[in-house]
Amino acid sequence: MSILVTGGLGYIGSHVTLALLHSGYPVTVIDNLSNSEYDTLATIIDLASNELPEANPEITFHQLDIRDHTALEKLFTSPDSQPPFQAIIHLAGLKSVPESLENPELYYQVNVTGSQNLIRLADKHRVPTFIFSGSATVYGGIVPQTGYQEDAAQTVDEATHMYGQSKREVELLMEEASNLSRLSSHQQLNPSPSHPTHSEHNNIPTKFISLRYFNPVGNHPSGRLGENIRLEKATNLLAMVAKVYCSQDPSQKLSVFGDDYTETPDGTCQRDFIHVTDLAEGHLAALTGAISGQISNTYQVFNLGTGHPTSVRQILDTFQSLSKTKLPIQMDDRRPGDLPISFADPTRANQQLGWFATSSLETAIRDVLSRCKYFA
Ligand code: WQD
Repeated sequence: MSILVTGGLGYIGSHVTLALLHSGYPVTVIDNLSNSEYDTLATIIDLASNELPEANPEITFHQLDIRDHTALEKLFTSPDSQPPFQAIIHLAGLKSVPESLENPELYYQVNVTGSQNLIRLADKHRVPTFIFSGSATVYGGIVPQTGYQEDAAQTVDEATHMYGQSKREVELLMEEASNLSRLSSHQQLNPSPSHPTHSEHNNIPTKFISLRYFNPVGNHPSGRLGENIRLEKATNLLAMVAKVYCSQDPSQKLSVFGDDYTETPDGTCQRDFIHVTDLAEGHLAALTGAISGQISNTYQVFNLGTGHPTSVRQILDTFQSLSKTKLPIQMDDRRPGDLPISFADPTRANQQLGWFATSSLETAIRDVLSRCKYFA
């Protein structure tokens, strides 16, 4: 049985798909190509084949939108009584905080309704593991000295933008599904006249895992996978830096949204910038933990972050020093929805998954420099 990766040609999805192929998993990718390119599939296959010549990467692709539940259903109908997939790694979604403020309805439709379709199918077809691309934007308010812990997530009503709200809503849908699934499995093990058993497959409840990403940065060292800055949707800091730097267009400026945050040492916001290959390894660790039984809960959350805050100013200074150039920077007003400080306490993932972020910011910045030639 293969691993279904939704959004598997996207920035994070392509790195997760490559990591799965490296580990020998067969992969089924679905992607609606709204923020990715079909050519990335060939790049993933090429990288997997070159880096592991003895491996024969097994990957299939379907252009699908997770809002199309009819098309999704067809993917899950498997001829035998086995669940169609060993796991679902669900990364498809919209991910820009500013864009979600402008278009909340779209974010709800894609991120919540789309995810609900998948959760229902995972439960109906008893897919053993469901791993979700969660977000650090479910946290808010004052960050503890040691970073946000998993139990500090805000309620849906406390969300300050639809992006964070949609991510929190999906986690609640997963938690609810896991409770119902556990209850139904208990009934099947202990059937009673009022609760006849009804299982299309086994009665092992699906394990739902939310991985809360902090700020993904960097890309595959070859530069051939990464944020697609050609697509207008790139709004994250390092993507915008890459856009300005790679364009070599003197009219392009990099906006710094506020340097008057009294909560931080240099006045610019602090974030937990995690290398995308560490993030991909975090998915492999969660998958291994679920399959091995190390993760026994049917709903579990893990922060994927470095545990260290870095400011916007520090990112820009490091980029300019490594690239030996001066970025055209303009100071702008604060951006609505921004927190002054956000960083992870990754202890749970470190201890329960044996996972640690190991790549440095310098590596992430050098990766971005290697990516320019693909955007010339
Ligand atoms: C970071 C900082 C901006 C662009 C991200 C992802 C989101 C989620 C959480 C996973 C802020 C400043 C940015 C620019 C700037 N991750 N900035 N100029 O908002 O922290 O959210 O992490 O789910 O997907 O978007 O990331 O990179 O947009 O902003 O000054 O041109 O950089 O103000 O302080 P954010 P970001």
